[in-house]
Amino acid sequence: MRDILTVTLNPALDFATHVDSVLPNVKLRCAAPRTDPGGGGINVSRAIALLGGSSRCLVALGGRNGETLADLLRAAGIDLIIHKAPGETRSSLSVRDENRGDQYRFMLPGPPWSPLDVIEAERTIVDSAQAGGLSVVSGTLPPGVLPDIVPDLCGKLRARGSEVVVDTSGPALHLLARAKGPAPDILRMNQEEADDLARRKLHDIRDSADFAQELVRRGVAGKVIVARGPEGSVLATATDRFHYRAADVPVRSKVGAGDTFVGAFTLSLAQGNDLPRALRRAVAAASAAVMTEGTALCRREDAERLTELCEAGEV
Ligand SMILES: Nc1ncnc2c1ncn2[C@@H]1O[C@H](COP(=O)(O)OP(=O)(O)O)[C@@H](O)[C@H]1O
Ligand SMILES: [Mg+2]
Repeated sequence: MRDILTVTLNPALDFATHVDSVLPNVKLRCAAPRTDPGGGGINVSRAIALLGGSSRCLVALGGRNGETLADLLRAAGIDLIIHKAPGETRSSLSVRDENRGDQYRFMLPGPPWSPLDVIEAERTIVDSAQAGGLSVVSGTLPPGVLPDIVPDLCGKLRARGSEVVVDTSGPALHLLARAKGPAPDILRMNQEEADDLARRKLHDIRDSADFAQELVRRGVAGKVIVARGPEGSVLATATDRFHYRAADVPVRSKVGAGDTFVGAFTLSLAQGNDLPRALRRAVAAASAAVMTEGTALCRREDAERLTELCEAGEV
């Protein structure tokens, strides 16, 4: 199997709890919290482990929270490469209001990075990548890290012989879409991110596939994947387009479904599967992920059972 390296620069220690009602100006006595590791690349590595594969998880960690996060990841059987973050790893808190069923999610910012911190982290990332392997760059960037780190890493990782998969949003995605710098091999986005880039609502699978292929032809990435929730995902290369429909499953929590998709897709490519097979397995794993509660990602049995139920569509 090819090596997989995931990168998480802005991880978080996620606390999840619940209370009868979220009210202002009073002490809210919450239930005992559940603690989970959080962050794009971390979730991708967790999904790969759940699906029976392995990856190396490069994560910037600092302080007590960083140590706790490392312990949780090791306990989950994740192979860690720790880069020292320039401060304490952030935490985040999600509180479910039991009466209304709403979830309140509070995300803290994480320590600020200096330009030198960025240079050092880039060096660790590039040195950790293996020729012939796959590198996954996903998740949000820490305060002080400019979006140009993403195209910059694409160039450096590809020069090292790694295939680069990017799942990002906001300024970094907009920067990649301008196609001014080095491009990823594979760029994946969800429906909202694609609508935001297109500056209009993409109305169906065909429209999304056209847009994905237009991005490829503009040099934004070698291949582009656009997710469309329950309709599944499309993948476009310069010459081909593929679509698999999601399985019809009960939706409990979508948290981490995108990261599960990326994990399953990357693992499948690493195992030597072709693009349509990898896409089908990823769509099935994302379907399995929306079936699980809270921050839980997916169960391997569900992902495997659902694969044959995700049908190819015409694009
Ligand atoms: N009802 C559903 N059934 C199956 N898959 C779904 C459903 N809703 C969303 N998905 C899939 O879950 C994934 C969510 O990805 P994304 O929006 O990037 O989530 P994240 O919040 O993890 O970034 C997509 O691949 C999407 O197609
Ligand atoms: Mg996402």
